[in-house]
Amino acid sequence: MEKVTVKIDGIEVQVDKGTTVLEAAKKINKLIPTFCYHEKLPIFGGCRMCLVYDVKSKRSIIACGSYVYDGMEIETENQQILNDRKFILEMLFTRHPLDCPICDKAGECDLQNWGTYWGPQNNVLPITPFEKIRPEDDWESDYLEYVSNRCVLCIKCVSVCDNINQSHSLFQLERGFETLISPVTKPMDSSSCEMCGLCVDICPVGAILFKPFKYNARPWLLNETFTHCSLCSLGCPVVIDHDGKKIYRIRSTAELEICAKPYLGYDAYNTNRLKNPKIQGKDVSFDNALEFIGQIISQNPSKTALVVSPYLSNEVLEKINKLGITTTSIITLDLLPLLEGFGDYNPPDFEEIKNAEHYVVIGDDITDTNPVITYYMKKRVVYIGEQLGRIKKLYPNFIQAEGRGIIEKLKENVEEGSVIVYSSYFFGEDAKYLGEVLRKLQEEKNCKVVIVPPYPNGFGIVNNLKRISSFVKTLDKILSGEIENLVMFGEEISLFVEEEKLKEIFSKLKNKVLFTPFDDGLALVCDVVIPLNTWVEEDGNYDFFTGQKKSKTSIKNSFKNTEIIDKILKHINPTSNLIEGFESDCTIPEWINRFKTNIWDASYFSLRSENLTNWKIKNQEVLNER
Ligand code: SF4
Ligand code: SF4
Ligand code: SF4
Ligand code: FES
Repeated sequence: MEKVTVKIDGIEVQVDKGTTVLEAAKKINKLIPTFCYHEKLPIFGGCRMCLVYDVKSKRSIIACGSYVYDGMEIETENQQILNDRKFILEMLFTRHPLDCPICDKAGECDLQNWGTYWGPQNNVLPITPFEKIRPEDDWESDYLEYVSNRCVLCIKCVSVCDNINQSHSLFQLERGFETLISPVTKPMDSSSCEMCGLCVDICPVGAILFKPFKYNARPWLLNETFTHCSLCSLGCPVVIDHDGKKIYRIRSTAELEICAKPYLGYDAYNTNRLKNPKIQGKDVSFDNALEFIGQIISQNPSKTALVVSPYLSNEVLEKINKLGITTTSIITLDLLPLLEGFGDYNPPDFEEIKNAEHYVVIGDDITDTNPVITYYMKKRVVYIGEQLGRIKKLYPNFIQAEGRGIIEKLKENVEEGSVIVYSSYFFGEDAKYLGEVLRKLQEEKNCKVVIVPPYPNGFGIVNNLKRISSFVKTLDKILSGEIENLVMFGEEISLFVEEEKLKEIFSKLKNKVLFTPFDDGLALVCDVVIPLNTWVEEDGNYDFFTGQKKSKTSIKNSFKNTEIIDKILKHINPTSNLIEGFESDCTIPEWINRFKTNIWDASYFSLRSENLTNWKIKNQEVLNER
């Protein structure tokens, strides 16, 4: 790459040809104020906040949209630029309500910051703050609110919605001083809006608000934890804002990768939590409950089975190996047979996936199961699957098929070098067959295969557990009396087993033990229940679809999931005679709830978030009508 040398405020910097002045200035930590610029969005150049002075051409230029040339000399803070900045801020302040004390963005607002450094420092026009100058626009949403007078018309919200998640849900209404940002259709909660919150996060001022956060906290009093969302296998980078006890919001980082699950669902962690261990509904201490479980296991290890969840971290899974009892997981129903058919699977290079020209998406609606991966599929996409609601909107190139018909259509429609993206849909033999076909397409048509399970750590189970028994066979053993004690570690098996069958299975068990973060569902019917941490409360590594990433603690509980297993181990003598290896479920009985496992509403998480569920219902109702 050809290099050019540019001088910024007297400091020489060498950068690649094609670099903007703003990017070059960042390299030497020069702060140039911006409103409409974001590194992941196309250059708009509308706000003029980033003006700098080009000494050679003797004029002010925008730093975000001007490219460096060899020998260029830039001044970022000469008197002309300081005057320009002040003038732009004066113009914005004339119509801004200056209602910082009641604005949610205060403390993290670019207008406030730039005003402090470069603004007029006084009210330049005799206009009373709070006076409304522009018309308001009601977005008719339970979650998002637009305050027109605070808007600086940088258009980043429209751009992020068009260019990142491609929902195209916002547009500019009217012209000139009357310009507003408005949803394309109202009510907004049943529009094309994905409720990803990116427009709220990217707005440089408090013009778009997330209503559940409104008046709830001052941003500077909250702690920020930069981590990876562990609600599906993408592991998107997110920020959790919390006070150590409660989560106030979960938002995107500069990577702009987030979906509605953490954005609307942040509240799931604050409510309905199981606080204390219980035996037969009565609160007991951790020590007593874990000793009791230790006794159950050690009295009859061969009659005890453990179900582990793909929401657990690698650290927990590693320790589970030591328990020495039959261990199973719902991944034996879908991911394991798929991998069995495919053979050695290596995670894809994400950059390569992002830059692909042609995608074939098969199976479930990934705009629901793994939304953020769809943000990168801006080029040709063929979707093959059942007529599922939300995917139609993004991918009109839709081939309707169901069951193995999807795999046959895949074979017909795949092109040389296509990226094939699969999340979930197939079980047992069908999953295994899909795995075999995918392997063949990889070898014969040079396709890239991307497997993105709907749960975060299915690959973690494969990579960390030494043995996995069949889920179906384990439940059959309960029915035949071979297994008497079932320990469910973070797993709600009621989601995967038909209700009547589950009742029959439970009626055969002597002891039903559930480790769960939430005080609902099976926690209400199990003999022993013990609280667990979720990904926001305990550090942990997860094997996401492109490899391992860590999620970090935001809320600290007095216990750790890993310590819970250590304590159980103190009370048992683990057997070491279990055969290592994985047993997948190729024959799936009717009582396995195939479809419920794969839709977002039934996921471990969204059931618990009222925000998410309500929005989803509203949105789905309208999609069904269309
Ligand atoms: S929440 Fe997301 S999808 Fe909805 S308008 Fe904002 S950016 Fe667009
Ligand atoms: S609402 Fe925010 S992001 Fe959108 S144009 Fe106004 S200031 Fe910019
Ligand atoms: S796509 Fe998955 S990992 Fe990314 S934000 Fe959504 S749920 Fe979290
Ligand atoms: S940030 Fe450069 S013109 Fe807006």
